Amino acid sequence: MDVFWERLGQPGQEVCTLDMERGLTLSGTALAAFEGQPASVTYQVQADPASGVTRTARVTLRLAGAEHTLAVRRSDEGRWWVNDRPDPALDGLDDVDLGVTPATNTLPIRRLALAVGQSAATTAAWVRFPALTVTPLAQRYTRQAEHRYLYESLASGYRALLAVDANGVVQHYEGQWQRLRLEPPDPGDPAISALRPEDFDDIVSAVDGWWGRPVAHLLHRFMFAHFAATSFVVRAQGRPVAFLLGFISPTHPDAAYVHMLGVDPAHRGQQWGRRLYDAFFSAVRPRGVIRVGAVTSPINRASIAFHQAMGFTLPPGDRLVDGIPVHAGYDGPGVDRVVLLRHLD
Ligand SMILES: CC(C)(COP(=O)(O)OP(=O)(O)OC[C@H]1O[C@@H](n2cnc3c(N)ncnc32)[C@H](O)[C@@H]1OP(=O)(O)O)[C@@H](O)C(=O)NCCC(=O)NCCS
Repeated sequence: MDVFWERLGQPGQEVCTLDMERGLTLSGTALAAFEGQPASVTYQVQADPASGVTRTARVTLRLAGAEHTLAVRRSDEGRWWVNDRPDPALDGLDDVDLGVTPATNTLPIRRLALAVGQSAATTAAWVRFPALTVTPLAQRYTRQAEHRYLYESLASGYRALLAVDANGVVQHYEGQWQRLRLEPPDPGDPAISALRPEDFDDIVSAVDGWWGRPVAHLLHRFMFAHFAATSFVVRAQGRPVAFLLGFISPTHPDAAYVHMLGVDPAHRGQQWGRRLYDAFFSAVRPRGVIRVGAVTSPINRASIAFHQAMGFTLPPGDRLVDGIPVHAGYDGPGVDRVVLLRHLD
């Protein structure tokens, strides 16, 4: 299970994987601030599958350009070692408590397995940040309701309510942390994916409307079958709303060519054209492509402006029409084109 916590009232975010397959393993990365300095903490804690007590904990703290590590382990007899040195002050304790994360609260919550209304005192091996010192910390957990615990630090009198899920994972830690519910993307939202041969029929029947003139004759089914590795589609509600059809030149392996790119008018101006080009550049660049070509019609000023915004240049043609270099008869008698060229860094 992967969780994302946000710190309340101070800078901090954390991602943690809680693996409950064999005992409990916590692997997390927390971003925090200590003494006004940005810091990151990565940690791994492993608990015994049978008893739930902590076996090992490893922490790496990066702060102010320095890296500090901590390794803690507990033997089956309850002896503790801190950085390979025995620490008798911790002997007999059951759980590690990393002060930087609510992840370790799950250790005693699961191990104690309290019934609603029950309470238990326990002392944890408390790791303080940024000092990375480990000291005993007496605390008490009271299960007030199915999903609610009262946490008390017995020495300081600090109290906080913890809302947990069915696995004992903190959802809300009063005044300290909130688990964020990350919404999966709505399948209806537009998203880029690889072009599929089946997209041909939808796209070929849409493009005349998208361009506002007949262009469907420029599309052929073989292109959708053979250029799929370097072509992309944007689908919304399962329907294509934009596409880019391009390929790497079999003759010049360092060159790629974009045959056609179009965005449904209802989805223009939302960077879908740019994102399709970004996807194309990312697909062809690792394959050794250093230049990308395309052509467009001299009347298609929107396409020319769009391609210039994408970093394409217009090599000189036979003549200038309104300042645009045009290649006369480029695609046959009377079929003039503007050539577009982009170098990939
Ligand atoms: C040209 C077309 C692909 C642009 O798609 P789009 O998704 O609206 O473009 P984006 O939102 O990704 O815009 C990317 C950039 O291009 C610029 N741009 C897009 N359309 C533009 C236009 N008509 N005039 C000037 N600039 C334009 C945007 O300002 C943006 O610049 P920025 O990122 O620096 O702000 C789209 O209008 C279209 O499908 N037109 C009809 C088909 C066509 O002509 N295809 C190209 C030839 S095959």
